[in-house]
Amino acid sequence: MCGIVGYVGNRSIVKTLLDGLKRLEYRGYDSAGLALLEADKIQVVKTIGKVKNLENRILNEYGEIEIAGPSAGIAHTRWATHGAPSERNAHPHLDSSGRFAIVHNGIIENYLELKSHLQGKGRVFVSETDSEVLAHLIAECYEGDLLSATAAALKKVHGTYGIAVIAVTDPGTIVVARHGSPIVIGVGNGETLIASDVSAIAAYTQRVIYLNDGDLAKITAETIDIRNIENIPVSREIAHIDWNPEAAEKSGYDHFMLKEICEQPEAVANAIRGRMDKGSATAILAGLNMTTREMAQVNRIVIAACGTSLHAGMVAQYFFEELASIPVDVEQAAEFRYRNPIIEPNSLVIPISQSGETADTLAAVREAANKGAIVAALCNVVGSTIARESGRGIYLHAGPEIGVASTKAFTCQVSVLLMMALLFGRNRRLSREDGLKIIDDVNSIPGLISQVLERKEAIEKIAKKYAGAKDFFYIGRGCLYPVALEGALKLKEISYIHAEGYHAAELKHGPIALLEAGVPVVALANNIPGKDKMIGNIQECHARQSPVIATATDGDNEIAGIADDVIWIPECSKFAAVVPTVVALQLLAYYIAKERGCEIDQPRNLAKSVTVE
Ligand code: F6R
Repeated sequence: MCGIVGYVGNRSIVKTLLDGLKRLEYRGYDSAGLALLEADKIQVVKTIGKVKNLENRILNEYGEIEIAGPSAGIAHTRWATHGAPSERNAHPHLDSSGRFAIVHNGIIENYLELKSHLQGKGRVFVSETDSEVLAHLIAECYEGDLLSATAAALKKVHGTYGIAVIAVTDPGTIVVARHGSPIVIGVGNGETLIASDVSAIAAYTQRVIYLNDGDLAKITAETIDIRNIENIPVSREIAHIDWNPEAAEKSGYDHFMLKEICEQPEAVANAIRGRMDKGSATAILAGLNMTTREMAQVNRIVIAACGTSLHAGMVAQYFFEELASIPVDVEQAAEFRYRNPIIEPNSLVIPISQSGETADTLAAVREAANKGAIVAALCNVVGSTIARESGRGIYLHAGPEIGVASTKAFTCQVSVLLMMALLFGRNRRLSREDGLKIIDDVNSIPGLISQVLERKEAIEKIAKKYAGAKDFFYIGRGCLYPVALEGALKLKEISYIHAEGYHAAELKHGPIALLEAGVPVVALANNIPGKDKMIGNIQECHARQSPVIATATDGDNEIAGIADDVIWIPECSKFAAVVPTVVALQLLAYYIAKERGCEIDQPRNLAKSVTVE
């Protein structure tokens, strides 16, 4: 999704902006650009494609642009929504006079109406974007102060925005504003940075201010003045980023995705550390901020999430229902938001989001809060909007996830959700003895992942064998059913192979019509309840000549005897089995995509965090 970076201070401004944009590349984009404020003019450079193209263009056309500080600049990576990827549509956008430049994330819903009004006043538009109206509107509203002009312009706008503005009228200044699209301010010594994502600026400062919706800020190298849209000063705390910037580097791995797959033993260890108490055979999840009485009163759980996080929620349904006997509904967040869901006073709503910025999940949080639910979020990104607006919840501590395909966030989500189900279970009917078993299961997860990682060469071999397939099916049962969905999602997003996940029992209700030689089926046949039925499903696939790649528990000769290829998973409980199995499927997808020469960390059309509907 689109990314914003801005800088005001004494560093080489071009280098700082390009560096920030590169750190945002993982979010997915199709064009990039920057605008620099020089004495009495704004210089804009834009290209389609990678930030590297932008860098080359700057070097070829201008040599290295070193502007004596203090100076201000804003930069952007665009992921096309309104208008195709092109230089014209890339940000920054200027107003007709060239004196105001903006970058914008989000969507301006009433842009057509605003555009025709502004055209009526003689303003000339050069792009097809919704964003360009902001530049013209701010110029139109300018009466001597950039922040006031921005506030006046934004009052006319319907939609979502995170924006940054520079103007020749206000040298050494950037104005930012947020409504539905994140903006973070990095507080440096004699310099200030702004970004849509903290990873763009974490190398420069660990002190950040997260703007709230409705905030605007005027920043210079030395000052940060935050106001609401009525121009009334508001105060926001300075937070400290808890991860070091090296965590966001590839560290010798070919791809962030592989690095993040391999980091999972440590990521999960961080997610579970200090959160279980053997003495009382339960979990300690202080961020939930619920008394045992409040927990006991919860009579329904609703999980709202998207994509991989939704799959983690589907796994959690099995955990909560079996361990805590609490009915659970798992909702695609957009559906939750628009379906007028039934929320009772004792409903607990759990939004799950790696980024904490997914627009539909955020809207679900707001809908649930409005309906009086207790909302407790599972997020990875500390200080993200969903985490802050939920008010309570559990951080994953997975570290920054840069690869667009989510991996370590999922395994940390599942591990944390198992602890949460343990906590609610112990709060109700789960015995101490059974509670201790779950603690052992949770503690076993990092070791189980390590064992699968040790087998990655074997998985790579299988991947190479099937990398030419055009279609794949993934089938599972019980808590491995959502793992089948997740395995298929991983494969399609990074290898572009058509892949579908199904409950194994659903196969014969339609999809089996598509099975034939050359259409592999990945059957999750671990030795956990449901395996016997999976054996039948594998036979059904064979009868249609589909090759079967099975996940099987170490030493299971029965599965080895009927599958064409086996990915071995260490022996473990059915709850713990989710994690090593999904890690094996992450590796399978990774190696297939690598074999096909795909751009694994930045798959086409995808964005790391989907901050628009
Ligand atoms: C898949 C993937 C997406 C995200 C989804 C939700 O690999 O990354 O499906 O899981 O966009 O994102 P978050 O968890 O940030 O809300």
